[in-house]
Amino acid sequence: MNDTHIIIPVWNQKVLSNRNALITGGTSGIGFEMANTFLCADIRNIVITSRSTKKLDNAVCKLKEMHPEKEKNIFGVIMDLADINNFENVLKNVLEYLGNETLDILVNNAGIYQGTKFGTVTDEEWNNLMNINLKAQYFISQIVSNYMVEHKIQGNILNLCSSSSYRPSIDPYMLSKLGMSGLTLGMAKKLIVHGIVVNGIAPGPTFTPMLHKKEGDSLHHGGVPAGRYILPQEIANLAVFLTSSMGRMIVGDVVKITGGSAVTTYDDVRY
Ligand SMILES: NC(=O)c1ccc[n+]([C@@H]2O[C@H](COP(=O)([O-])OP(=O)(O)OC[C@H]3O[C@@H](n4cnc5c(N)ncnc54)[C@H](OP(=O)(O)O)[C@@H]3O)[C@@H](O)[C@H]2O)c1
Repeated sequence: MNDTHIIIPVWNQKVLSNRNALITGGTSGIGFEMANTFLCADIRNIVITSRSTKKLDNAVCKLKEMHPEKEKNIFGVIMDLADINNFENVLKNVLEYLGNETLDILVNNAGIYQGTKFGTVTDEEWNNLMNINLKAQYFISQIVSNYMVEHKIQGNILNLCSSSSYRPSIDPYMLSKLGMSGLTLGMAKKLIVHGIVVNGIAPGPTFTPMLHKKEGDSLHHGGVPAGRYILPQEIANLAVFLTSSMGRMIVGDVVKITGGSAVTTYDDVRY
């Protein structure tokens, strides 16, 4: 394996044609790669979000350069996960961009990692983490699923969970992601009767800015049995499958993609 570069095939079959998606936090890492891959899978319209106009414009421009044939179908909307009272407006803005089309896919991707540790966590750090990584996803999902039910949309909600929540949870990040796994199961049960498929993806350590990774850095990760970081492209390919018609019978699953780091075993024999 080249230590700094590996080529992952990008999903290139048109399995998302005629569908429209909103990916929260599409400006970097996993979210940006999902937007790119959804476009490769022929999504009709894609909307990404950011807190920053500059970051949003950069990401939208880059996606348009990568997909000139979809130039008129790539949009950006300002959204701060901390501002729950603005979520109805966010949906309104998204629907304005979509015109006569419906919003079919919500990916709850945006999130933060604070690196706080039990013993020193402050009330403010706890609230910030939980608000951005769990409460926001709860409320945006509520708004979007109400919209999907009302318009009889056979939609998808896909949540970014984390393999860290397979460990005993002790810091707020892990607990927020444990909450996301629970929310995934609860929403899946509640919404499948309306034809809305809810699933989650639990990545292991992924090569993104969240983990301070940038192009040219080593892909090696000693803690991952497969020996390297997971690449955003690998998460994105799975996201396409789960939100396409191929994944419609996968309901309420949180699919691990960890290079083996969340394989929990009773290790009384050698492998
Ligand atoms: N990287 C990993 O190892 C890993 C592992 C497991 C799970 N995950 C999960 O995967 C998701 C994506 O992570 P990533 O690694 O791709 O991270 P990233 O590169 O840091 O991207 C995070 C995205 O979230 C957005 N965001 C952050 N705070 C926000 C807020 N308050 N309001 C709105 N948007 C906000 C950012 O947008 P702006 O800055 O443009 O506003 C950015 O687009 C997260 O939920 C993360 O917890 C990551």
